[in-house]
Amino acid sequence: MPKLKLPTPPKILNPRPTRPGNGPKPTPLDNAKEAGATVVDWLDERTSLAGPARWLMFRKVPKGTNWFYTLGSATLFAFLNQAVTGVFLAMYYDPSPTHAYESARYITNEAFLGEFVRGMHKWGSSVMVILVFLHMGRTFFFGAYKYPRELNWIIGVVLLILTMTMSFTGYLLPFDQRSYWATIVGVNINGTGPLVGPYLNDFLRAGPDFGATTLSRFYAIHMLLIPGALAALIGAHLYLVAKLGTTAPPWLRAEDPEPLREEVA
Ligand code: HEM
Repeated sequence: MPKLKLPTPPKILNPRPTRPGNGPKPTPLDNAKEAGATVVDWLDERTSLAGPARWLMFRKVPKGTNWFYTLGSATLFAFLNQAVTGVFLAMYYDPSPTHAYESARYITNEAFLGEFVRGMHKWGSSVMVILVFLHMGRTFFFGAYKYPRELNWIIGVVLLILTMTMSFTGYLLPFDQRSYWATIVGVNINGTGPLVGPYLNDFLRAGPDFGATTLSRFYAIHMLLIPGALAALIGAHLYLVAKLGTTAPPWLRAEDPEPLREEVA
């Protein structure tokens, strides 16, 4: 395979060395321009991360790349929105059965920007579910699950399940009548699964019945277990995207290879 030429890095990563006493004195503007490069150099000298950063950021993109390719990044953005708003909600939310409803009411009605942050988290969850399905549809219809991207598809399937589990566990947290009864229905549906169903049921309820510990079980799964797993798997997913590149759209076929020798008529 021919070796690909490395792209020229932007000038800021590769500044012309300035020698003291040689040439005009740098103006404050020159110093300000150099400052960015100095910070990058300072970091690079200590971490050697400029190479990996260049590998990650300067990649070839196939012809025909279009707006459908932004759905993965849009899902990532929705996930980050959930993470940031979730942190602020966790500052006020209390996962005990006696205080959960009241703390959610407090966030909406009294906390500064509480209604806005809770709304972003609530609507953001639906947006993330819709986006993850659209992104999965894009990769399926563009044949991006085929060799050599099978592992990324499998990681994607786990990401899909985790995203759905986030929605399910988050639904209980406001602890009002709707979320309480809907979660009982959801847990019972899980219980009908073959073999693992009853164990999954007990695990989710944190015991044989829906009780005082169920809410804290759901909260721990919702804000610690799954976000951690999601973040790690998204990292692996994006590593594979950077390593393998994205698939060209199926309507752009690879050019026929050159014939090895002239056909004899
Ligand atoms: C939290 C959920 C997810 C995030 C944040 C995410 C993010 C991304 C991003 C940023 C890309 C590169 C840009 C693009 O092609 O859109 C990508 C590519 C890809 N994703 Fe996802 N993804 C998620 C879920 C899924 C799911 C559910 C599947 C399938 C089951 C999947 C399968 C793939 C595949 C096969 C590629 C490679 C696409 C190609 O080669 O053209 N992803 N993902």
